[in-house]
Amino acid sequence: MLPMKLAGEYLVFGENSLEYLTQLQGSQKRALIVIGGESIKKTGYLPKIEAYLKEANFSFDYFTGVEPDPSFYTVQKGAQKLLAFQPDWIIAVGGGSVMDAAKAMWIFYEYPEYKTLADICPPNQIPPLRKKAKMCCIPTTSGSGSEVTRSFVITDTETHIKHGIRGMDLIPDIAILEPGITASVPPAFTAATGMDVLTHALEALVSSRAHIVADALAEKAALDVFEYLPQAYREGSNLEAREKLLLASCFAGMAFTNVSLGIVHSIAHAVGGKFGVPHGLANAIILPFVIEFNSQDIKAKSIYKSFAAKVGAENLADAVRVLNEKLDIPRNLKPVIHQDDYFTAAIPELAELASKDGCTKTNPLIPTVEEFKEIIEQIYFGVKVGSQS
Ligand SMILES: [Fe+2]
Repeated sequence: MLPMKLAGEYLVFGENSLEYLTQLQGSQKRALIVIGGESIKKTGYLPKIEAYLKEANFSFDYFTGVEPDPSFYTVQKGAQKLLAFQPDWIIAVGGGSVMDAAKAMWIFYEYPEYKTLADICPPNQIPPLRKKAKMCCIPTTSGSGSEVTRSFVITDTETHIKHGIRGMDLIPDIAILEPGITASVPPAFTAATGMDVLTHALEALVSSRAHIVADALAEKAALDVFEYLPQAYREGSNLEAREKLLLASCFAGMAFTNVSLGIVHSIAHAVGGKFGVPHGLANAIILPFVIEFNSQDIKAKSIYKSFAAKVGAENLADAVRVLNEKLDIPRNLKPVIHQDDYFTAAIPELAELASKDGCTKTNPLIPTVEEFKEIIEQIYFGVKVGSQS
């Protein structure tokens, strides 16, 4: 039996998708809009969102200031705002960080008796939601797929460790994919978030829990990233490329939330938490090394080979490196972190963290801690792991 849940109540896509907000229902008709910093204001879409909410007779307020890699402190502040405003809809308008933070705030709004991040971390389960509010996500970047996933990542305010938290109730009720809202994302951010999509898709394809439905979604997402990401990077206002990437992000999200990820994410979570490397950039750099490591597994090797053929390449790791080059992403972590001694000293800790990360469980090959150390060292200094040939 392979049960699968693809999205919440509605997935709305195509131009003018935002108009769907006029159909929002609610007993209180109150929405809290959760956003990040200034970039969303520059898109020019907030006035449209406000106008549609007014048309639906909703009153609204904002929670602003969700930072990249949101901390538990931000989640607590957001939950306080929710408790004071008592909305029946939470509308997250932003990238993965904003949507993730909003999901976490939602839990603490529904259960104010929860006080700490540990209260919602495994082995604790996410309790039933929607007694007070439903959630609508409007992604402004093509990356996390959080608008359709049952998970989020929050950074512990004190330890800086990133915690991935999952629960079926966390799939947002409505996901609205409005391509134009992503048009003003700057090139470097477009590149990094787009490579996050590719990583979700390729990790889902070789996951030990992979299945035919997730494969169809993941393969389409990965093919579209190869085809459209360089275009969106060079020409941000190209709405066709932006829409393809926004859908790719959503497809990859549907795939990985059902079959999970692999050790690219395990290592990216560890390195991102300790050295502040943006998630998508870390994934982009780590991905080819992990493809090479995973190619020691015959099944994974064959999946990579047949996908590589579809993008006109023989070797998938090399094809990813060529794509990274087109996006001006470095080949290894050293030029991003610039702290050779500090990084080398941190490798054992990073290897331990990556080994314990939830994404490791579904990697086609599960590395030992010693193997993790080798892979992480190679990712930093830029030496190839294993051989795909
Ligand atoms: Fe990711």
